[in-house]
Amino acid sequence: MNQPTMKGVAAINAPAFVQQQKLINWVAEVAALTKPAEIVWCDGSQEEYDRLCAAMVAAGTMKKLNPAKRPNSFLACSDPSDVARVEDRTFICSANKDDAGPTNNWMAPAEMRTTLSGLFDGCMQGRTMYVVPFSMGPLGSPIAHIGVELTDSPYVVVNMRIMTRMGRAVYDVLGTDGAFVPCVHSVGAPLAAGQQDVAWPCNKTKYIVHFPESREIWSYGSGYGGNALLGKKCFALRIASTMGRDQGWLAEHMLILGVESPTGNKHYVAAAFPSACGKTNFAMLIPPASFKGWKVTTIGDDIAWIKPQVDEKTGDVRLYAINPEAGYFGVAPGTNEKTNFNCMASMRENTIFTNVALTDDGDVWWEGLSKEAPAHLIDWQGRDWTPAIAKETGAKAAHPNSRFTVAATQNPVIDAAWDDPAGVPISAFIFGGRRSTTVPLVTEARNWVEGVYMAATMGSETTAAAVGQMGVVRRDPFAMLPFTGYNVSDYFQHWLDMGKKIAASSAQLPNIYCVNWFRTDADGKFVWPGFGDNMRVLKWMLDRIENRDSASSGIEHIFGISPQFSDLEWDGLDFTQAQFDTIISIDRNAWLEELKLHAELFEKLQHHLPPELDANRVALEKGLSA
Ligand code: OXD
Ligand code: MN
Repeated sequence: MNQPTMKGVAAINAPAFVQQQKLINWVAEVAALTKPAEIVWCDGSQEEYDRLCAAMVAAGTMKKLNPAKRPNSFLACSDPSDVARVEDRTFICSANKDDAGPTNNWMAPAEMRTTLSGLFDGCMQGRTMYVVPFSMGPLGSPIAHIGVELTDSPYVVVNMRIMTRMGRAVYDVLGTDGAFVPCVHSVGAPLAAGQQDVAWPCNKTKYIVHFPESREIWSYGSGYGGNALLGKKCFALRIASTMGRDQGWLAEHMLILGVESPTGNKHYVAAAFPSACGKTNFAMLIPPASFKGWKVTTIGDDIAWIKPQVDEKTGDVRLYAINPEAGYFGVAPGTNEKTNFNCMASMRENTIFTNVALTDDGDVWWEGLSKEAPAHLIDWQGRDWTPAIAKETGAKAAHPNSRFTVAATQNPVIDAAWDDPAGVPISAFIFGGRRSTTVPLVTEARNWVEGVYMAATMGSETTAAAVGQMGVVRRDPFAMLPFTGYNVSDYFQHWLDMGKKIAASSAQLPNIYCVNWFRTDADGKFVWPGFGDNMRVLKWMLDRIENRDSASSGIEHIFGISPQFSDLEWDGLDFTQAQFDTIISIDRNAWLEELKLHAELFEKLQHHLPPELDANRVALEKGLSA
């Protein structure tokens, strides 16, 4: 294989299993710019993972947890300035500003490239550049796509090994001329000769940049989560959504779960929720004891890639989904045996924790893990923490956005088809936000346009931790606000077009539902128990899917179809008709206000807004006013 050599640049040294010259040339080009001391081509082996973890323990980036308590697991604590995705530093650099739309930050590609050239020039000096090949989705699946991330962070390498199908087999799928999305990542902290490194290198200046036309990702300055693990939000949502628009498929911020009745009837549903709505809990739901024989299984907890495929038996076009990821990068606080037993079981071993607290016996703890906090901890910033200190200062032991990274295969309720290259057929889409008022527990859309309208106008109340102001509704269309890689109104149009295309094949479109688990009573308390009891709502949906035209289950109202009290299964739950009325009711005045907010949203998104959506709003307004 012809290997480029360059003066003053680390040897490229591509191993024989790398068959693609274009890839080698690109690695050489990025190395010439970033000037790493060394280049390592990752093979994804356990030996490589163990070696990198050991090196990070020696460097102080990670601590090895007590193997008796948490085998083969680590705790990494980041710089306090590098703890979350940075939406205000995230850019969509399409050729035309209009193509990024009003919800994305935009900069002209040429201007951004000049900025990036300056930042990346020599940014890996003194560090190793790792070449990380990964497949988003089962290797070789017709729904999957490949990426290669060049990074100077070993923390990113080990996380990518858990979160994606990463390693040598990817090169075989790539072959000599397969396509890949090039992803360049640097923590932006070059080391001068002899300079001592810090435990979590990063840079105050941060850029998370997407070039949708050339399908490239460049990330600078952060080592944390979605900023740095570029397969996740950057590729699997922002770049993939533009690929989906161009190629006729969907990249969505959705969990996928399987639900099987005691008679073996199985459906898969995909559900979109903004952050802080219990997405991982829903994906791993345990049905109440009274639901004997019902099973819920997980395909994915965060992202779905959905492509229309022809059903071989019927010739119909159906939507098939894969989870492009291979692991979970979940929020730790609030997770416990009661809220998500399966998640806790998933992280009993082989887990990387980030920014949680360390117990005196070498295990981890976070707020909400147990009712009683341990008497003493080392908090995520390495300081002593006790309940008394917390009371006095309000200091959290774990950062509110602290995380666990764990392989999907460790989930005890992983679906048998989770790694099936063909994907799974989707029977329903669910959209939900956190709303203390107004939005009923569940509503089925009567048609595709009504469903797209529900998803386009969904919103979620901000939590105090995130924004400092409780209860403000942030509109988050399709839970994709920070993740749509192009103009969000064009994205709505794409959803409408996909519906038309599938309907034209005379196939049955998936049902669309809007849910809200978060309505509160006069005292501000949640009325719906949530968690496992969400199975009751799921079962109603399945009844509807299987008996589409049955008038006996549900009642039609202005926004669609909702269950009556008698339509839900209540066995094992003490829940009154009055409580049910509190969370299913439609308050006309609240909805008139709500529709004004929809109008405000549409005003902002008017460029290319599909006329069907505004027509739907006007029809609702008329209906309510009548
Ligand atoms: C996530 C998010 O981390 O949506 O999944 O922010
Ligand atoms: Mn997410």
